[in-house]
Amino acid sequence: MRQRNPYAFIPFSAGPRSCLGRKYAMLKMKILLSTILRKYRITSDVAYQNFSLLAEITLKRGDGFNIKIEPRKTASQTGDTISS
Ligand code: HEM
Repeated sequence: MRQRNPYAFIPFSAGPRSCLGRKYAMLKMKILLSTILRKYRITSDVAYQNFSLLAEITLKRGDGFNIKIEPRKTASQTGDTISS
């Protein structure tokens, strides 16, 4: 990663006028993503090997996002406890 060209990933642009909020935005997106994944189970009937991908400004699914989102059961609903 240290050897990676700084222009290899440029959603926040690059150079002296690049995005000032980059670290905050990355942190916020990771918190958002981990919160969603902790609370919901996301599945798709399409196997990932069969995803059709479109490399545009951002990487997209060519056939749309046919996904199923279900709430995960919390520890209190399953009766699970943390033991030391
Ligand atoms: C996913 C979120 C974000 C993306 C993709 C993004 C992307 C960008 C891009 C492409 C630029 C233009 C850089 C250029 O002109 O070369 C920019 C500029 C800027 N962004 Fe962001 N940004 C994000 C979030 C944020 C946040 C959260 C803040 C503030 C807390 C922020 C503050 C700024 C500022 C102040 C500039 C102007 C920098 C300058 O002109 O010197 N951005 N951003």
